[in-house]
Amino acid sequence: MQLLSILALFSTAVVGLSHPAALVRAPSKVCTVPAAGSESIDDTPAVLRAFDECGHGGKIVFQNTTYHINSVMNTTGLENCEIDLRGTLLWSTNISYWLSHSLPVGYQNQSTAWVIGGKNVHFNGHGYGTLNGNGQAWYSATGSVSNYPRRPHAMTVAETSNSKFYGLRFLQSQMWTLSIIHSKNTVFDSIYVNSTNHGGSSRNTDGADTIYSSHITFRNWEVDNGDDSISLKANSTDILIEDCLFHRGLGLAMGSIGQYKDVYETIERVTARNITFSGTLHAVYFKTWTGEQVNYPPNGGGGGLGHASDMTFKDLQATALRGPAFAISQCTTFSGTAGNCTSSKFQLRDLSFRNINGTTTSHNVASFQCSAVEPCENIQITDVNLTLQSDGTEADAYLCGHVEGTRGFNCTGAVCVGGSATGGC
Ligand SMILES: *[C@@H]1O[C@H](CO)[C@@H](O)[C@H](O)[C@H]1NC(C)=O
Ligand SMILES: *[C@@H]1O[C@H](CO)[C@@H](O)[C@H](O)[C@H]1NC(C)=O
Ligand SMILES: *[C@@H]1O[C@H](CO)[C@@H](O)[C@H](O)[C@H]1NC(C)=O
Ligand SMILES: *[C@@H]1O[C@H](CO)[C@@H](O)[C@H](O)[C@H]1NC(C)=O
Ligand SMILES: *[C@@H]1O[C@H](CO)[C@@H](O)[C@H](O)[C@H]1NC(C)=O
Ligand SMILES: *[C@@H]1O[C@H](CO)[C@@H](O)[C@H](O)[C@H]1NC(C)=O
Ligand SMILES: *[C@@H]1O[C@H](CO)[C@@H](O)[C@H](O)[C@H]1NC(C)=O
Ligand SMILES: *[C@@H]1O[C@H](CO)[C@@H](O)[C@H](O)[C@H]1NC(C)=O
Ligand SMILES: *[C@@H]1O[C@H](CO)[C@@H](O)[C@H](O)[C@H]1NC(C)=O
Ligand SMILES: *[C@@H]1O[C@H](CO)[C@@H](O)[C@H](O)[C@H]1NC(C)=O
Ligand SMILES: *[C@@H]1O[C@H](CO)[C@@H](O)[C@H](O)[C@H]1NC(C)=O
Repeated sequence: MQLLSILALFSTAVVGLSHPAALVRAPSKVCTVPAAGSESIDDTPAVLRAFDECGHGGKIVFQNTTYHINSVMNTTGLENCEIDLRGTLLWSTNISYWLSHSLPVGYQNQSTAWVIGGKNVHFNGHGYGTLNGNGQAWYSATGSVSNYPRRPHAMTVAETSNSKFYGLRFLQSQMWTLSIIHSKNTVFDSIYVNSTNHGGSSRNTDGADTIYSSHITFRNWEVDNGDDSISLKANSTDILIEDCLFHRGLGLAMGSIGQYKDVYETIERVTARNITFSGTLHAVYFKTWTGEQVNYPPNGGGGGLGHASDMTFKDLQATALRGPAFAISQCTTFSGTAGNCTSSKFQLRDLSFRNINGTTTSHNVASFQCSAVEPCENIQITDVNLTLQSDGTEADAYLCGHVEGTRGFNCTGAVCVGGSATGGC
């Protein structure tokens, strides 16, 4: 009975996901953006002029050259607009400028360098159009400080529907690469992200983050970074992630969530399939804030309500995972304080992990550290073939704390309850 209703929900999720973006009509007007060709000349005014003139029913063309983006851009409210990126947008590294001018994203006090959005927007990079955030300057400047206030995301897609972003390359993003907020029925296809720090970690360089968004598809992504490969946050529903390749980062993240005291948020109806993980920490992990609020976002919070449910992760391949393939941590709290890992009021339930093979460095297939207040319910894991790199034996440990209703596996031991926001201790 329970199983049937869950299967029904899972199939609804998949059916509900295919909302192809409507076709953009032939553009009435084409605006080709001129490039000044010098880093001391800001190309932003020319870009904004093109969006003003051609953002409704027109086409904006970036030629095969480098555009210097020295100022914030707000190109929202577009309609039936085509954007053709054949060159590189290169962001400036005037840190003090960006820290005082970056635009609010609308969640977690995050901010951005470029907010773009509208209806029927088709943004095509043809597989080579590049957004280069010049992130090395940011990785060096922010060092080990997490979520440095006002450090900008590379691009934010806001208030967007029936749109498509494809063939884009994001290099060295300043912080998160792509935040997607208040958006629906939008496809992000064939996107390459590479934010690697020469000689250090590239923390907070998430590949993409969804917030208050539904019916979003990620297809054919390749991400090489130092944080979440793709992360689904508050009110992300009906999300499909397929045919992707993730390198080095933390894997697919559900959360963090539960950061706002007494606010109800969910992540629901998620399907991820045919994903390859290469040297990531996890394949999939969940992170919620604890039940107690300590300080404020971006780096503090907690005490939030809600649930993450109805998710299927299947046909996963792994090479050299650095930790448990599947992890849950409900320990996220203000940095520097020891959180109560069992007090969260946010529940995880009806999760299915099916068919993972490959290699790992962890004996633990799963590490599920759930809340005692809202225990995890109904978790299925089947068809696991993970081989330890060290000796070729099978990873076979399933560590649990407050997990009710396992299918396809039995818990083999108690989870280590520690302060790690990414699972385990
Ligand atoms: C862009 O221009 C460069 C030369 O400036 C050329 O090597 C490259 O092939 C061009 N790319 C495309 C896609 O046309
Ligand atoms: C950086 O931006 C600030 C404004 O925020 C400006 O005063 C300063 O001249 C800029 N520095 C450079 C090197 O352009
Ligand atoms: C972008 O511009 C629109 C229209 O002027 C405005 O409503 C919106 O608040 C702006 N967004 C940001 C993040 O500044
Ligand atoms: C974030 O925004 C909230 C209001 O939404 C504010 O109370 C809080 O102080 C801000 N946090 C930081 C670190 O700026
Ligand atoms: C990302 O960039 C680094 C540095 O250029 C490079 O070594 C690495 O191979 C790239 N990753 C992918 C997946 O292309
Ligand atoms: C799985 O994803 C890869 C890209 O990572 C793609 O090349 C391959 O065709 C996909 N396989 C299937 C069966 O769709
Ligand atoms: C988030 O989802 C919850 C549950 O559906 C809803 O009550 C809440 O209003 C949503 N919040 C926002 C900001 O959309
Ligand atoms: C942690 O939270 C749980 C659940 O609310 C509670 O029973 C326990 O006493 C708390 N532990 C501490 C050390 O406060
Ligand atoms: C996992 O299984 C897939 C499909 O059977 C296969 O293509 C792939 O090579 C396997 N990967 C590993 C690491 O064994
Ligand atoms: C598990 O995968 C290894 C290769 O990674 C393979 O040799 C072995 O036959 C597989 N076992 C099962 C039960 O599929
Ligand atoms: C879990 O344990 C029960 C009771 O010992 C056993 O019947 C069942 O076969 C086990 N399930 C798996 C998947 O190992």
